[in-house]
Amino acid sequence: MDNLAGRVAVVTGAGSGMGRAFALRFAAEGMRVVAADIQPDALDATLAELAVLGHEEAGHGGQVAAVAVDVADPDSVRALADAAYSRFGAVHLLCNNAGVEGYLDGPIWAATDKDWDWTVGVNFWSVVHGIRAFVPRMLAGGEPGHIVNTCSMTAVVRAGNMYGITKHAVLALSEVLAADLRARDAPIGVTALCPGVIATNLFRGSRNRPTALREPDDDVTAPDRDGRAGLEQRERMHATLAAGMPPAQVADLLVDAIRRGAGYLLTDHDWDDRIRERHELIMAGAVGGAGAVGEARAAGGAGAVGGAGAVIEARAAGGAGAVIEARAAGGAGAVGGAGAVGGAGAVGGAGAVGGAGALGEARAGGGAGAADAAGGGG
Ligand SMILES: NC(=O)c1ccc[n+]([C@@H]2O[C@H](COP(=O)([O-])OP(=O)(O)OC[C@H]3O[C@@H](n4cnc5c(N)ncnc54)[C@H](O)[C@@H]3O)[C@@H](O)[C@H]2O)c1
Repeated sequence: MDNLAGRVAVVTGAGSGMGRAFALRFAAEGMRVVAADIQPDALDATLAELAVLGHEEAGHGGQVAAVAVDVADPDSVRALADAAYSRFGAVHLLCNNAGVEGYLDGPIWAATDKDWDWTVGVNFWSVVHGIRAFVPRMLAGGEPGHIVNTCSMTAVVRAGNMYGITKHAVLALSEVLAADLRARDAPIGVTALCPGVIATNLFRGSRNRPTALREPDDDVTAPDRDGRAGLEQRERMHATLAAGMPPAQVADLLVDAIRRGAGYLLTDHDWDDRIRERHELIMAGAVGGAGAVGEARAAGGAGAVGGAGAVIEARAAGGAGAVIEARAAGGAGAVGGAGAVGGAGAVGGAGAVGGAGALGEARAGGGAGAADAAGGGG
């Protein structure tokens, strides 16, 4: 969707962080903007910022509107769609952006129903509700459109917690949505936005956790659960984010991605090694022969460097700086074995900002040294 001026954008989570920055940026592009959030005072602050920049409320003949929404509630999201259509008559750009840090208070098995309901409700079901409420109406409108689903870099690396689980799911949902729209030749694009570390209030997300889904620590008897550790982690991560990329910079990148119709937008290259590592590990699980990628595991038998049963690690700086890892656990019969590392299919490549194609290219053949090491077992 190249031409933004005059079109209508709906942004969830517009009371803070990236959502607020998107609303401001879209208004500056001349779009009419529906800013939606669960936190009324935060939404008011967004409206006030918009007003300072000359973007008045729709009721006053202006171009912006604020709507209260709980994105985890399908009725509330349908009401948001109704409000947007009745205010502006159309929606062209939908940003399913609201999200929370979610459950961080122990291992995954200690999470309660309420933890799952809150985290998955706000981060994943929100996107399901969003596309069900808006996409049929956007299709019926027949105009060019675009949908942005805010995933995360945690969607493309190995998931580390419940948040990561939800973001992997949002990425997968975005890919399915894009394919289904393409199959119908719909003029609606999809961008899976994967921000890195952005200076927002994400790790203060518990402020909006509904009372009904709160789990006072005292009430949780699971032995592994530790609300205090969760709090500490939230504080640590809040400080880390504070030093991150300004949300306005993400808004700039996003507007460019929407104009280009980019399927993926990764805000930086800081996560490249972890992205690569995950996909190499997955490919290393493929049984057999050439083309297997990344980590080769050899179990038992002769030929292993480092003696029976020892796990050795060979690191080779393959190709364009890619580091691959070959593990031989004592010997022969390596699964995976020699083969190109990385490969054209690596996720993230074209979507990463700064040096397009830097990730996922030029790595084939770079793993000779490691392949040799793995080959010692296989
Ligand atoms: N900040 C980062 O480093 C980072 C990195 C990757 C992805 N993200 C994602 O970016 C998106 C935006 O978050 P942010 O970082 O700007 O955090 P933020 O806390 O500053 O903004 C999130 C907004 O979502 C709203 N919200 C929370 N629950 C809601 C609900 N049930 N219904 C409606 N609105 C609700 C909050 O009130 C808040 O205004 C999230 O999906 C988050 O997971 C953030």
